[in-house]
Amino acid sequence: MTQVLRIAVVPGDGIGPEVIAQAEAALRAVAETAGRTLALTGFDWGAERYLKTGVTLPEGALDMLRQDFDAILLGAMGDPRVPDNRHAADILLGMRFQLDLYVNYRPVRLFHERLCPLKGARPQDVDFVVFRENTEGLYVMMGGNFKKGTPDEVATEIDLNTRRGVERIIRHAYAFARAAGRKRVVMADKSNVLIHAHELWLRVFKEVAAEHPELESRHLYVDNLALQLVRDPSQFDVIVTSNMFGDIVTDLAAGLQGGLGMAASGNIHPGKLSLFEPVHGSSPPLAGKDKANPMGAILTAGLMLEHLGWTEEARRMEDAVRWAVENERTTVDVGGTLGTRAVGEAVVQRLRG
Ligand code: IPM
Ligand code: MN
Repeated sequence: MTQVLRIAVVPGDGIGPEVIAQAEAALRAVAETAGRTLALTGFDWGAERYLKTGVTLPEGALDMLRQDFDAILLGAMGDPRVPDNRHAADILLGMRFQLDLYVNYRPVRLFHERLCPLKGARPQDVDFVVFRENTEGLYVMMGGNFKKGTPDEVATEIDLNTRRGVERIIRHAYAFARAAGRKRVVMADKSNVLIHAHELWLRVFKEVAAEHPELESRHLYVDNLALQLVRDPSQFDVIVTSNMFGDIVTDLAAGLQGGLGMAASGNIHPGKLSLFEPVHGSSPPLAGKDKANPMGAILTAGLMLEHLGWTEEARRMEDAVRWAVENERTTVDVGGTLGTRAVGEAVVQRLRG
């Protein structure tokens, strides 16, 4: 195969550059051993550049990315020197919205029971996927203030849900379930209280569910979903939910797989340029200390390969991380003693095997 994958790499802030360096090393190892070619091109977008130049996402950046790259790999955004994290909203949310990355794909997989805080939970019990709507809901930043700064202040935030937006993420969850051989789809909302916006979710869900009698469809209120995830995560194959609920539920889910250091995600528009980022943030206190867990970033790079059709290479990346977990080549957050670089090196060594 002569096809070259062109990846735009945005390490970002805090621990981003450290974990992304390990993800890049793993990508190079998996490509070289497969005799395939990857071109990784770095971009310095983030707090440092914003503080120096006032630029967040440079003008024309998205057109350039669409034209010259197959995918974007991002580390983390967030820096205490930018208190409102304006640059993060511009760069991360900017790409989600402007590239219309409506699928936030967050697989949740436990690699070893040692990593799960639930008593007796085994790897086969924690193996599901969350699809979070990624372009609307409470994230559209519509709303406002009235009488700001006075005791009578009023603040509103609009939860924007469109028929098109709700339908496309629900349909995506079903399409995934069918393709992946998953049997059960859960849609979580709060339609008992959000009687307009989430009644739309429930109605669309029922319509799409009726088209898939071969799959088990179940509706849960999101508070009950939180309870059920902790009580018995083995109930779940595919979960689909709104933007804000998905944000919260995927942090809880990350806890089931060993914490944010283990969690991977893709921001996807099927068939178009997509963005891959670990679920964790920039973690300023850990930055530059060789302590951050690179596994979330390495697994994220694996999701990116899977998305781009390098199925076998993606599987090898995940297997190498699982091997490192099983053999206790891990950072402190998941019970090990190694630093960021040593964990990355263990994974790379396994890949070069
Ligand atoms: C995530 C993050 C982001 C979100 C923040 C950094 C804006 O928490 O990707 O889960 O809320 O979507
Ligand atoms: Mn989050």
